[in-house]
Amino acid sequence: MKRIAILGSTGSIGVNTLDVIAAHPDAFRAVGLSARTNAERLIEQVRRFRPAMVTVGSAEMAQRVRAALGADAPHLLVGVDGLRALAADASSDGVVIATSGSDAVLPLIDAIRAGKQIALANKESIVMAGEVIRPLLAEHGSRLIPVDSEHNALFQCLEGREPSTIGRVYLTGSGGPLREMAVEELPGLTIEQVLNHPKWKMGRKITVDSATLMNKGLELIEARWLFNLPLDRIHTLIHPEALIHAMVEFTDGMLLAALGPCDMRLPIQYALSYPRRLAGAWGRLDFSAALRYHFLPPDTGKFPCLRLAREAAQAGGTMPAILNAANEEAVQAFLAGSIRFVDIPTVIERTLSAATNRVSPTLDDIFAADRFARETAREALGSLR
Ligand SMILES: NC(=O)c1ccc[n+]([C@@H]2O[C@H](COP(=O)([O-])OP(=O)(O)OC[C@H]3O[C@@H](n4cnc5c(N)ncnc54)[C@H](OP(=O)(O)O)[C@@H]3O)[C@@H](O)[C@H]2O)c1
Repeated sequence: MKRIAILGSTGSIGVNTLDVIAAHPDAFRAVGLSARTNAERLIEQVRRFRPAMVTVGSAEMAQRVRAALGADAPHLLVGVDGLRALAADASSDGVVIATSGSDAVLPLIDAIRAGKQIALANKESIVMAGEVIRPLLAEHGSRLIPVDSEHNALFQCLEGREPSTIGRVYLTGSGGPLREMAVEELPGLTIEQVLNHPKWKMGRKITVDSATLMNKGLELIEARWLFNLPLDRIHTLIHPEALIHAMVEFTDGMLLAALGPCDMRLPIQYALSYPRRLAGAWGRLDFSAALRYHFLPPDTGKFPCLRLAREAAQAGGTMPAILNAANEEAVQAFLAGSIRFVDIPTVIERTLSAATNRVSPTLDDIFAADRFARETAREALGSLR
């Protein structure tokens, strides 16, 4: 029985993780949950899964949860300190990091220092601080199992392979909801159009990232740190059918591809059960229905965010943290209705141009870069409003 703590249990990945746990009561138990704002969903989850520890976003929310649950209320913690305590608590064997955004960095590091097996969904943390996080894993005997579907697929293709035999890897992406839209239409897009993803139901921030192709850019940096691969060996490919999630080309030219239905419960289940593989009641691909596979290069002229991400990755140091923070600010402003979809890359590019890179950064350098990028991005946003 693996005891699991879920950071971000009320989100899209969190809810899917609880589905997996509920489907395997003999294999997993949810011992810790966390939410930032969604008290109603959290209360339902606590009633159903009875965790010992719960983290919430504010003292008011803690009061609301306590009032609703009375004597059945679990031990309640608040804010980032609460998330950090939950990530490192001795009551769990495994931790799922499924909050969105860069606040996941410190809880992730705490979980690593506590030697947990970590199912990592949050990509902003590893993009920002991959250079600091990677050496900590070996030092503390912790393990990151990717939840992101492409990285989970790559993880499965690469398992047990000799690193010197890996030629290149491909991260595929459906191309998002705007793949076929004319470039002239992009300035007038509504938030609803951008959130209408053709293949995946996800949280709002990652859905906007999928539409700008920044998601593929963040994934490129994520793959660099998860698999210790040089950037020139990580390729991105648009594959509208989203049947193949990743491919590895070995040095002899042979390729291995990982296919599966678009259901996040598959990669989540493998990340929880690893190194075991459990049976799953999730979807299956149906080959009787003439499946088609198309591959296209990403259009970085129409979607500049992927180019910006590769440039930031190549620069290294604090530039990925700058990219990530500027993107978070720009996406938040777009979702608040205060800038247009096409302004997102403008804000990121202006922020990157204003930044001074610091190579071989410490965690403090990374947080300072994050603060600088948010201030600079807010100034750029102010000039666009
Ligand atoms: N969704 C997917 O299919 C998918 C696939 C691959 C990777 N990911 C990555 O997984 C992460 C989560 O994505 P998601 O789609 O599940 O997001 P989501 O639906 O927006 O859920 C985010 C969760 O984190 C909580 N949260 C948000 N900001 C927080 C903060 N600053 N501190 C503490 N908790 C916070 C939310 O709480 P409340 O809702 O209670 O406010 C919610 O439980 C992201 O990094 C995303 O890139 C997601």
